[in-house]
Amino acid sequence: MEQQFISRITSSRKNVSGRFSAKSPSNIALVKYWGKRDPQIPTNSSISYTLTHSFTSTELRFVPKQSAGFDVKVFLDGELNEGFAPKIRTFFKRIANYCPFLEDFSFEVHTHNSFPHSSGIASSASGLSAMAICLVQLEQSLGGELLEEEQLKKASFLARLGSGSACRSVYHGLVEWGENSFMKGSSDLYATPYPPAEIHEVFKTFHDTILLIHEGQKSVSSTVGHNLMNNHPYADLRFQLANENLQKLLIILKSGDLAAFGELVEHEAMSLHAVMMMSSPAYILMQPNTVAVLHKIWEYRQQTGLHLFFTLDAGANVHLLYPSAEAEAIETFIDTELKGFCQNGNYIKDVVNFG
Ligand code: PMV
Repeated sequence: MEQQFISRITSSRKNVSGRFSAKSPSNIALVKYWGKRDPQIPTNSSISYTLTHSFTSTELRFVPKQSAGFDVKVFLDGELNEGFAPKIRTFFKRIANYCPFLEDFSFEVHTHNSFPHSSGIASSASGLSAMAICLVQLEQSLGGELLEEEQLKKASFLARLGSGSACRSVYHGLVEWGENSFMKGSSDLYATPYPPAEIHEVFKTFHDTILLIHEGQKSVSSTVGHNLMNNHPYADLRFQLANENLQKLLIILKSGDLAAFGELVEHEAMSLHAVMMMSSPAYILMQPNTVAVLHKIWEYRQQTGLHLFFTLDAGANVHLLYPSAEAEAIETFIDTELKGFCQNGNYIKDVVNFG
């Protein structure tokens, strides 16, 4: 299956310089990917909303070189960032088989995140997706001849090898990743956009306001977290439940049942953090203010009947999910009651993007 992604470039047009750019949004999983095996194969299927305003824009500049090996420098907001270059080199090593032209150029990656670097929002999904799209553009310019659909599939395939969840950021809307028996065309190797015709209108204009509870580095990286799912006593149950939850979610997405959506999505978020707490060694990525916000949301829902739900990433920040018809009332509540739990009062208002 991987064979299809090996570059078909035959002519050698190595003596070219140029630049390509791409912009990719972050995504928030509703059914979470947590656990993988080599090479970046997920242990269960996942689905996410692609966001709009939280994005990475990347420009890939290249000039020909003669020496062997990878040569890449990364600039974040115009400043050389020594920390990122080894990560990109590791990424290049993983994808070299599929992009044999990587050693032919010296690269400069100029990248900008729309969200603050320290916000605790992972830039790996948006960043690696943008980078993969640039690489596919480069391949095309070298004679790649991929059809538009194949270009996106290859970008998703490459992005996955950089950071699993990044493969979903290549597409708009609701995006699935992971092979299963109930979704035609699903794959472990790349993500697939979920057909809009299967989604009720209410889920196409959803809001995601991200409460920045704790800015700065997480205590446990997602690489370490994924690894702790190996030999985890609840791993198999978690993978099975995630797949079942995805199957249930697809029915909910079609029906427009907001209450069922919230129940399932919150359960997924809690399951993710529960398996973290039951890992060896155990760890907790929620902060006291994360927990305080969850209580506030439950209380608010009970009092108002409005459809304000939460989900969590592998971190302390809380993603507030709500339909656009209720946005005005809910955003007043966020400003008056939840903003105070954010570090420096910061939050990011985002919406899902169906293109
Ligand atoms: O793509 P990674 O390795 O950063 O893992 C992401 C895992 C979660 O964000 C917690 C869940 C998901 O499916 O995006």
